[in-house]
Order: sequence, then C-alpha cells, then structure tokens
Amino acid sequence: DWTPDAFVETTVQELKNKIGSDKVILGLSGGVDSSVAAMLLHKAIGNQLHCIFVNNGLLRKNEFETVLHQYEGMGLNVKGVDASARFLDALAGESDPEKKRKIIGRVFIEVFDDEAHQVENAKWLAQGTIYPDRIESVSASGGPSATIKSHHNVGGLPDFMKMEIVEPLKLLFKDEVRRVGASMGMPASILGRHPFPGPGLGIRILGDITPEKVSILQEVDAIFIDGLKKWGLYDKVWQAGAMLLPVQSVGVMGDERTYERCVTLRAVESTDGMTADWVNLPYEFLQKTSNDIINRVKGVNRVVYDISSKPPATIEWE
Ligand code: XMP
Repeated sequence: DWTPDAFVETTVQELKNKIGSDKVILGLSGGVDSSVAAMLLHKAIGNQLHCIFVNNGLLRKNEFETVLHQYEGMGLNVKGVDASARFLDALAGESDPEKKRKIIGRVFIEVFDDEAHQVENAKWLAQGTIYPDRIESVSASGGPSATIKSHHNVGGLPDFMKMEIVEPLKLLFKDEVRRVGASMGMPASILGRHPFPGPGLGIRILGDITPEKVSILQEVDAIFIDGLKKWGLYDKVWQAGAMLLPVQSVGVMGDERTYERCVTLRAVESTDGMTADWVNLPYEFLQKTSNDIINRVKGVNRVVYDISSKPPATIEWE
C-alpha cells in the first residue's frame, strides 16, 4: 500500500544513492510541486541542493519576499533572484498572448541559466514534474492544447545545460504530492496553494504589460485572495485570480465623470484544469470585495465576476 511516509523514506534513499556527492540545481516556483520536490531532495542531500527562485516581476503582491522567507525557514539552500526589470523590459509593448508567454519563457531560461552557471560543477537538474504533467505534455504534441496555448512546465531548459534530470515526483498525482509534503511537515500555506501559471500576472493583464498595470493587478488580486482566505473560501476553490481588462468605462465621482479600468474576478472548481466550473461565491463576499477593490485601488472603477465555465472559456483569459 502506498503511504506518504513510506514514499518519503524510499525516495530519500533512492535520491541519496543516485546523486551521491553531486550538486543539484532546482528552480523553485512557489508552487506545491517544486516545493515538495525541493524538500525531498533537501532531506536526501542537504546543501548539495541549490535552489533558485526567480522573481519575474509578475508574481502576486509580496509573493517573492514571503515565499523566499518561507523557503529559508524550511532550511532550503535557496537563492532569490529578482529579475523583474529584465522581464518587464523584454515584455514592453508586446500584447500578443503567445508572444508574451514566449518572452517570459525565454527570459526565464536566460536568468536561470546565468544562475545555474554560478553553481560550479552541478550535475543534476531537479524538476517538480508530476504524473499528469507528463500525460499532458504527450497529448499536447498532437492534442488541441498544443495549438491553443503553449505551457512551459515540462522541459523548457536549453540543451546546452547538459544536465541529468531528476524528477522525484514523476509518478505522483497532486493529492499524493500534498500528502508527501505534509508528511515532511511542510506548511499548509505552501501545500494548499492554488495553481498559478508560470507566466503569472503576465497573462492576466490583457494586452501589453506595464509596471503600473502590474501593480494595479497585484493590489486587486491581493484583496480578492486575502478576502477568500478571511471568509474561509480559499480552500473551497481550486483556483482564483483577477484579470485586468483592456477596457475603460465611465464612472462618476461627485460631479466628475471618470474613465477608468475594469477588472474581472475568476474563481473555479476543477480537478485538473482541463475542465472547470465557475464557483458560486456568496453575493455578500462579492459585494464586499468589489467595494474594497473600487475604494482602495486607484484607477479601477468597475469589477465584474466571470460566470463562464471551461469549455469553452479557459481559466486564464489569455
Ligand atoms: P487554461 O487557461 O488553459 O488553464 O484553462 C488551465 C490551467 O493551466 C494554467 N496555465 C498555465 N500554466 N503556463 C503555466 O505554467 C501557462 O502558460 C499557462 N496557461 C494556463 C492555468 O493557470 C490553469 O491552472
């Protein structure tokens, strides 16, 4: 019978045998999978594991600092790299969703590669790939998802790094990954985290990305997500976030007419992201959240809630 404790014990032993005294590099994303993979490797080889956590400037509000701090608290040998400016410069003026994804993917590889070169004689590249990622990447080669959107979780690193790959979670499903993390004592705030796309807020800002738009969306998203947590709704939702629309609409402020931005909130139920239903959040919650956003976030005067399911409406708007 599969148990998380037994899995941890066997996997740690296998990793020790396989890696010996070599160095391993791992890119942390803040998500469940890469975090649990890192923890397993940390248990097996301690500081021979070199983690790299890149801030692409498109993370949630305070996410980089908070998560980096959590990783340090877990004892991980982690380097935080703030490459926000590099990503935002490369993205300037681009509004095509697939091109934005490609730019973010390319800059990530460049930044990661620079950092990986700083770790001398590293032999292994660890990844938090889980079983469904593998199925999806296979089906994506011919399936509709390949043509609709390019996902960047699998592979994605340049050949010239020539490292051997280690994927300790490759046979697990998400719920098993969470149980493995829990059995190693990892914090619920990491294990219970909603999925978040690699390109981050970059695909939630429709159209071109500017630092101002990023900070507006970070504020909106933080009000929404903190609200979900406060109201005990966060764990009932599979994924939630806000999108900044390329739309301005009229508002009134006293005698003045304003012309400001519109955001949409999205919260979905799903098991694997392939299909999704919008969540029937309580009206009182939506009312409070909308008021908070409009009162507190300068430049936003309208909030809408996305009541579309997938298919056909993808979870992300881009
Ligand atoms: P969609 O929008 O296709 O999203 O319904 C399904 C799930 O995949 C995530 N997603 C991405 N993840 N890179 C990622 O790492 C991407 O380019 C990307 N696009 C969508 C999305 O957040 C949802 O969980």
